[in-house]
Amino acid sequence: MIPVSDAPGAGASETGANEAGVGAASAGAASAAPIRTRLTELTGIRYPIVQTGMGFVAGARLAAATSRAGGLGIIGSATMTLDALRVAVVAVRERTDAPFGVNLRADAPDAAERIELMIAEGVRVASFALAPKRDMIHRLKDAGVIVIPSVGARRHAEKVAQWGADAVVVQGGEGGGHTGPIPTSLLLPQVVSAVDIPVVAAGGFFDGRGLVAALAYGAEGIAMGTRFLLTSDSPVADEVKQVYLSKTLNDTVVTTRVDGVPHRVLRTPLIDGLERSGQVSGLARAVTNAARFRKLSGLSWPALVRQGVAMRHGTDLSWSQVLMAANTPMLLKAAMVDGRPDLGVMAAGQVVGLIDDLPSCAELIDRIIAEACDSMARLRRVFPADSD
Ligand SMILES: Cc1cc2nc3c(=O)[nH]c(=O)nc-3n(C[C@H](O)[C@H](O)[C@H](O)COP(=O)(O)O)c2cc1C
Repeated sequence: MIPVSDAPGAGASETGANEAGVGAASAGAASAAPIRTRLTELTGIRYPIVQTGMGFVAGARLAAATSRAGGLGIIGSATMTLDALRVAVVAVRERTDAPFGVNLRADAPDAAERIELMIAEGVRVASFALAPKRDMIHRLKDAGVIVIPSVGARRHAEKVAQWGADAVVVQGGEGGGHTGPIPTSLLLPQVVSAVDIPVVAAGGFFDGRGLVAALAYGAEGIAMGTRFLLTSDSPVADEVKQVYLSKTLNDTVVTTRVDGVPHRVLRTPLIDGLERSGQVSGLARAVTNAARFRKLSGLSWPALVRQGVAMRHGTDLSWSQVLMAANTPMLLKAAMVDGRPDLGVMAAGQVVGLIDDLPSCAELIDRIIAEACDSMARLRRVFPADSD
């Protein structure tokens, strides 16, 4: 692990910016020159670093801390009620004037109301967990909201670009949460070559070397989930953070047993049990969990099943998977909010194995910018200016 710069802002150099605007010398970020990429220009942020929307994790505190530090904080609204989203938006605005965004599910039954709320509240960026429909993009753009969906495949990037998205986050397979099979190192250059809109790289990023590498691939910034989950500004319970910190590069698994679609999570006894269970015991386990979580959430059985069906993403799920899909928010909540790693599901990227500390968002962003500047200085020694 690269040590944290203990003097954020010290030694900033505004000289020698390259095309992407990364300064030449080792520097702390707080007073370092802003970095110019198409992403920072589009959104008005200082540094091309996005904290992604994460259910139960990316609330007002984390989003505000990121945006205040010069990145783009995004509220994860998929697990919030409409009212809770409104409260979170107001809370971020009270903490910072900097731009921030809201992540939502394009297939949420109340997606249209969420979009109207974002427009009414003047939210700068709309981020989508799944490719949004064309009319959603148009409604947001007509109202001046910047639309940046997250995708995991080239054809989805091409589709949202065609429909008018302003930029796209491309998540490679090593990323946390719902994820695809193609690693960032292959998906990113493929998508950068395929679309003209700014591309933001996600999946596996945690430091300044990664930022420079992403920019070298042609991305306009990086987006990180797991790294921001593991900050002191993240609301996740300390004992759960310690579980994450103890994990190695081999300790995540992509499972379809949680909600029917590939989901990268920490490998735990609960996940191992789900992976091993056959159809019958899977259904029994799902019904037991559903009963427990129905009680906790106050949802009726029909509402629980409706929620599960809505989460199928168009795939053919077994009944146990429908129930598990309905349970997913509660399984995530058990770990993230209730501090019960034994009962819950903990989404995580493989990068968890390279993270061993809990900086604040400001320290993290400072550090990443300082490391990026160091990487650029090293590259300039490798490729001296007069070599071409
Ligand atoms: C705990 C957790 C919850 C997540 N929840 C969401 C979500 O609600 N919506 C979404 O679009 N992506 C979600 N993701 C995916 C992240 O937004 C992001 O794309 C991913 O974490 C990037 O990979 P990384 O973890 O390697 O940084 C989640 C990821 C994690 C780790």
